[in-house]
Amino acid sequence: MYLQLSTWPDIEAYLKHSSGVVIPIGSTEQHGPTGLIGTDAICPETIAGGMAEQDILVAPTLSIGVAQHHLAFPGSMTLRPTTLIAVIRDVVASLASQGFTHFYFLNGHGGNIAPVHTAFAEIWSEASLSSEPSNLHLKLGNWFAGPRVNRLSQELFGDADGKHATASEVSLTWHAYPEQQRDAELEPRRAPDGAIRDAAGYRANFPDGRIASEPQLATREHGRRFYEAGLADALEEYRRFVSPAEG
Ligand code: NI
Repeated sequence: MYLQLSTWPDIEAYLKHSSGVVIPIGSTEQHGPTGLIGTDAICPETIAGGMAEQDILVAPTLSIGVAQHHLAFPGSMTLRPTTLIAVIRDVVASLASQGFTHFYFLNGHGGNIAPVHTAFAEIWSEASLSSEPSNLHLKLGNWFAGPRVNRLSQELFGDADGKHATASEVSLTWHAYPEQQRDAELEPRRAPDGAIRDAAGYRANFPDGRIASEPQLATREHGRRFYEAGLADALEEYRRFVSPAEG
């Protein structure tokens, strides 16, 4: 069930049997010469699409994240960490005001992890400082870090999956958008590894945008398997999260 394809009476009816919502969150940033700029938003959005088929409400994807280090590559966009924190607080407050209690952010971008957790801390702080007990439950799930996805990445690519513009995420985007598959010779075959600071330093150290990865190993068939693994991981984590025993 997609929020954007629902009416308000649909959502009022949904709230009678569930107060949980999935919010895909990603980034709009370069993913090397063969990876789509939307990769980090497309991956969680695609997996959330499978959750939407299971009568779980999926909100619109928050597609712009904290990606300042990619700005030296055309097409990349960033929010400041403080902006993303403010967006998350407002999104949660909006739906919480109508009775939603369980917010599961399904994330596709490492740079969002710290600001999302900080947003959660801000929301808890507001409740604690006002002495108003909160009934909110907030969770961040990273599709790329689930147990089935990690096992599949190890099995298919081992160390070659790398850190940015990975074969896993590129495969998943090609499963979602087969017509967008790209082929190119990448040199060196395995991209360099190292620390990330600002945008100019990133482009100097990682000239084609990849970090430690070999996206040449990506295929649509691998992408189908990452979709299935990512969906099973996310469904398991979400169901545990919204269950009365653990939520
Ligand atoms: Ni990525």
